[in-house]
Amino acid sequence: MKISEAKFAGSSTRVSMKPKRLLPEFAFIGRSNVGKSSLINMLCNNNKLAMTSSTPGKTKVVNHFLINDSWYLVDLPGYGYAKMNQKGREELSTVINDYILGSSELMMLFVLIDSRHDIGKIDRDFLARLGENGIPFAIIMTKCDKQGPNVLAAQLEKDKAILLEQWEELPPILCSSSKSGSGKNEILEYIESILNTQ
Ligand code: GTP
Ligand code: MG
Repeated sequence: MKISEAKFAGSSTRVSMKPKRLLPEFAFIGRSNVGKSSLINMLCNNNKLAMTSSTPGKTKVVNHFLINDSWYLVDLPGYGYAKMNQKGREELSTVINDYILGSSELMMLFVLIDSRHDIGKIDRDFLARLGENGIPFAIIMTKCDKQGPNVLAAQLEKDKAILLEQWEELPPILCSSSKSGSGKNEILEYIESILNTQ
């Protein structure tokens, strides 16, 4: 699948405020600064679509992007940003939970994990809550350009072992780099396969 058109379709802080035109949604979540907004831009070939920043906590609302006039990519705020004050963290977590638990159009939640580090407790706890709530998810490793292939492969095996302590089966795991564009075809093909089962 190719993305021929990507348009900003609106920002919301509650699911009741999301775009009124209901279409399948594919959302991106993960720790603050993991690369959610950058990945959306990379998939859409447009570096100005979603706002990115080297400072964590950039995305604070739910942003819908209309793709090929037929489905949405959804950029979510990050979780687990230690430097944000408690009130700010609580509000972001309300925005995230309201969307994830409340959007009936959410087909797949992509949970982004930094490929350089072991999957941490914050991510494992988040995945556990998705499981408890029956939210379909897949994992995308980000920033895969930052390490050589051998180090990357070893870290991936480590992360799989960590996940298998928690899960009987591994979820789909894809690797990506917003810098090099790697993973783009796999992610878009995966989305297309889900759209085709509709
Ligand atoms: P919040 O909205 O703050 O939660 O962050 P985010 O997850 O949307 O991250 P964002 O896309 O803003 O990227 C954070 C930083 O990581 C930026 O400085 C990006 O340039 C950088 N970055 C994101 N993806 C990649 C990648 O694949 N490779 C490299 N080298 N840098 C990346
Ligand atoms: Mg962002």
